[in-house]
Amino acid sequence: MTRDIPRLLQAIADDVRPLLDQGDVASYIPALARVPRRQFGIAVATVGGEVYGAGDSERRFSIQSLSKMYALALALQREGDALWQRVGREPSGTPFNSLVQLERERGVPRNPFVNAGALVVTDVLCRRYLQPERAVLELIHRLLGDTTVSIDAEVARSERAHSDRNAAIAHFMRSFGNLHGDVGAVLDAYCAQCAVAMSCSELARASLFLAADGVQPRGARVVDALAARRIGALMLTCGAYDASGDLAWRIGLPIKTGVGGGIVALVPGRLCVCAWAPGLDANGNSIAAAAAIERFAAAIGASIFAGEPSRD
Ligand code: DON
Repeated sequence: MTRDIPRLLQAIADDVRPLLDQGDVASYIPALARVPRRQFGIAVATVGGEVYGAGDSERRFSIQSLSKMYALALALQREGDALWQRVGREPSGTPFNSLVQLERERGVPRNPFVNAGALVVTDVLCRRYLQPERAVLELIHRLLGDTTVSIDAEVARSERAHSDRNAAIAHFMRSFGNLHGDVGAVLDAYCAQCAVAMSCSELARASLFLAADGVQPRGARVVDALAARRIGALMLTCGAYDASGDLAWRIGLPIKTGVGGGIVALVPGRLCVCAWAPGLDANGNSIAAAAAIERFAAAIGASIFAGEPSRD
């Protein structure tokens, strides 16, 4: 099967090319508005250690909300289940940067992937680390066995200078007592963490522990098996915000999306695939990357709902 992956990835890159003109780049972060739209990469990393790519699979881009997978893993490592007293585990059915549920639900975000939930996760990391964004970056370095990945300072500055909505969310949660630290410090760390730049092949490799019961292949345990499975469950139900249901229906795999145009998907026990194209749909999810991962999963028959009928 793996012999055919390079050819499959190239065929997918060719197939999705017409989609690259669709959608809009994330212009609410000015530094991302300048990213050329006609780019596409896809990469697969297997738990056995193979890595395959096509298109711009080695070009680094802004990981944005993909960082929420690594920040959550780190927060669960440090805080354990106590985190769930401050963040829920339900899909929101609202955009990633929405405030509407917070008032009714007394400052407790629906899940750790909407911005409100990720800000609570960052608040936890701010308590645990002097430089929380460095802690997220160092986790990524350990996962990759490589320290060249870095934070794009211009993207971090650009988002921080336009972070009124996240600031509103953070202050609002603080008014309910669900954000403990200084709002400015939480926003600094959050924007820096979102501004990490990685390629599809780096993202596919760095996310393998989530497809391997919490152990990074050829590396150390990152989170316990149950926590890894639960992060996967949250990715399936909440990883693409108000499009999570549709993408679970189309792809059938845990995924996480980011407004940089990246999407990571897990095939538990086997591999991770990451696709990237900057053009986003109205929910902030990459149009071509979603189509590419849908096509990849269908071609290799991967779905967490696939199964042999049992004999008993
Ligand atoms: O907080 C924000 O709005 C961005 N730094 C991240 C949002 C994001 O990537 C949502 N994903 N589709």
